[in-house]
Amino acid sequence: MKISKTCLSSKNILSLDDLKSEDILSILKLAEVLKAEAKRKNDRSKQLLSGKVLGMIFQKPSTRTRVSFEAGMYQMGGNAIYMDAQNIQLARGESIEDTARSISLYVNCLMARVYNHHDLVKLAEAASVPVINGLSDTFHPCQILADLLTIKEQKKRLKGISIAWVGDGNNVCNDLLIGCAEIGIDISIASPRGYEPPDWIISIATNKARSTGAKVNITDDPLIAVQDADAVMTDTFVSIGKDEEKEVRKEVFVPKYQVNSQLMTGAKKGAIFLHCLPATRGQEVTAEVIDGKHSVVWEEAENRLHVQKALLYRLIASRNQIRA
Ligand code: CP
Ligand code: NVA
Repeated sequence: MKISKTCLSSKNILSLDDLKSEDILSILKLAEVLKAEAKRKNDRSKQLLSGKVLGMIFQKPSTRTRVSFEAGMYQMGGNAIYMDAQNIQLARGESIEDTARSISLYVNCLMARVYNHHDLVKLAEAASVPVINGLSDTFHPCQILADLLTIKEQKKRLKGISIAWVGDGNNVCNDLLIGCAEIGIDISIASPRGYEPPDWIISIATNKARSTGAKVNITDDPLIAVQDADAVMTDTFVSIGKDEEKEVRKEVFVPKYQVNSQLMTGAKKGAIFLHCLPATRGQEVTAEVIDGKHSVVWEEAENRLHVQKALLYRLIASRNQIRA
């Protein structure tokens, strides 16, 4: 196993806008290597991050992000420290900057899941170690790295792929738009009026698309979005922090923006279905689709682990000159 110590373009990964196309492709490639190693009897990646520590701050609940980061560090010989934001001094008013400066003295990398993206920016600016976004109200870069790996595995390529997003123009959708535009994948988003991705995100994506040739399409018609799609994606209509809008959103999104078998028949033959999870069956997706033959949600969930191991290695090992 030969792994280069290539540095990423950015110290912090707060959104996919921090990564260039070659960074994204190199993370996916390394994730494939680490995934293959993890399945070997003699996994040669076991000591890659020996003695290294990841600090993880969570303001919001998490299943996949927490467990995959933690397991990923252990699998590479390192450790992870889980911090519930309610149980560190941040909850008693210590500033984000002082929290970042202090924790940086003990760990090699920080991952944080926050409500307000601006808090993550403050954390990253004050931290002397790399900071990874484990989901904010605006972005979810690690999710999209896992999604791109899943699509690459399932479709055997990324070149020429077309993706449809049906539903809320949310944090996951924002990084999907940026990531697709950066690596030259066609992306079509169908969201109800008023729930589209923000204009500034669409501008970032359309600017990138001008140089990569990706097509970026924003519509309110799910049938238009899924036309020619190799992959159909969605997410909850009610992200964490939006619970008070639950009833209104249900009215707006269901049934028009629900991914069901009928909508899937509008996509390309053999199209796959992805969902970052957690899912609400019967709302954004029917049980028939998420539990059916088009669905690759478990492959997608597994890939969180592999892409994050690759990302951690690229961020930590390249700074510490580990030989692999
Ligand atoms: N997809 C995802 O980030 O899942 P969790 O909220 O469980 O971490
Ligand atoms: N958009 C969802 C993703 C959860 C992984 C949320 O922010 O709650």
